[in-house]
Parts: sequence; C-alpha cells; structure tokens
Amino acid sequence: MRFDVVTAVPECFAGWLDSSIIQRARAAGKIEIALHALRNFAPDKHRMIDDYPYGGGRGMVLKPEPIFRAVEYCLTQARPGLKPEIILLTPQGQVFTQSVAQELATCPHLIFICGRYEGVDERVREHLVTWELSIGDYVLIGGEIPAMVVMEAVARLVPGVVGTYASTEDESFSNGLLEYPHYTRPAEFRGWKVPDILLSGHHERVRLWRHLQRLKRTLERRPELLTQRRLTREERRLLVRIL
Ligand code: ADE
Repeated sequence: MRFDVVTAVPECFAGWLDSSIIQRARAAGKIEIALHALRNFAPDKHRMIDDYPYGGGRGMVLKPEPIFRAVEYCLTQARPGLKPEIILLTPQGQVFTQSVAQELATCPHLIFICGRYEGVDERVREHLVTWELSIGDYVLIGGEIPAMVVMEAVARLVPGVVGTYASTEDESFSNGLLEYPHYTRPAEFRGWKVPDILLSGHHERVRLWRHLQRLKRTLERRPELLTQRRLTREERRLLVRIL
C-alpha cells in the first residue's frame, strides 16, 4: 500500500509517522508513505502556493498549478497499469466511515491532497480529484489531520500492520456493530468484578455474550446502525432478549 501526501505543511506528519505501529509497518514494507511539500511544486521564484480569491472575499485559496504538478509527480510513481485514487480532504466531502476505509484498502495507491486556508481552486476538484472526503461535520485548519485519520484507518486494514489481522474483524463498525466491552486482570478491581461468564472458559457462551453486548451497545448508543443492516437469525434471537 502506497500513500502520497501533498501538503503545505509536511512537518505536521512527523510525530505520527514515527508512532510505533505506523513506523513498524513502514519499516516492514507493509506501507509506504511519501510526503510532498506543495511549495516545491510552485513554478514561480517566490514559490507561491496560494493567492487571493477572484471576486473578493476572505482568506486565501490554494493555487491549482502546484497541486496539479505535485499530483502529476506522484502519478509517475504509480505502478504501471494501476490507477491511484486522488483524494481531497475537505469538509464538503463524503463523510469518512469504516466502510469507506475498507473500500480504500482495496486500492494499493492513494494520493491525498490536504486543503488549507479558505479552500482549494475549484479546478482541482473538477479535473484532478477522484474522491472528496470529510472526517466529520466540523471545520479544521487544514486537511493534514484528516489525511492522517484516513491513512491510519486504511493502514490498519492492511494485513500484517495490526498485530493479528483478526483483531480488526470483530471491532466496532466492522459488520456494522459497536464493540463488546473488554476486561483484563485483575478479576476484581476496587470491588468491580469482571462478568462471571468471561471467567467461565465456555467459548460458545462467551461468544454469544459478546454478540449480545455488541447489539446492546449499538442499540443504546447508535441505533441507526442497526436499522442500516440486515440482522442475522442469531441477532434477532438475541435482540428479543433485550427488547
Ligand atoms: N479540512 C478542514 N476540515 C476538514 C474535515 N472536517 N474533514 C476533512 N478535511 C477538512
């Protein structure tokens, strides 16, 4: 999996790139991340990457040429025959979810354009970008943190990046349910006990209990997730117990 990131502030990524799992995945060659400073692709001697908006108004707009040149450079790094997705991070994009992460994980090369300032010249959206993503309904200063969010969610779906691949399968959102509660030692902490069933060693009962807890949590916290998916027979049976 290769990620290219086009950004006005590559230094934003330093701590995250060095964080343990991401760093280990890069060292093991599971993921490759290349940062591209927008300024290096500005054609003029002042290396201008932004300018005033036509028609007036607040703030600055990222110019199209440095972005096109940076992305075109990234495309020269693509494996032959492979068409990378070119993703613009913007509050106007499709809201990023686990199922978008799963879809992106099937594409081995992603190019991220981090928006900044008041916006990005519209010709970038119209003629370059293949996907616009938002990480939620709020406005950040730039697309750098959203790009890290998306890369991290996608990277951990790459086999071998997270300890055991299976651990990404029964977690929140994969198959549309929130996660069951987790406990570790001690069995009693300040008088609060771990549910007996988890100490029973009865694998099938533990599995059913966890499935029930996932349904319960989802119903309490995110009921809309339940209406968006088809329930299995087991889930219908379990739900009857809690409704
Ligand atoms: N840039 C600024 N805010 C953003 C958001 N919520 N999602 C993606 N990109 C952004």
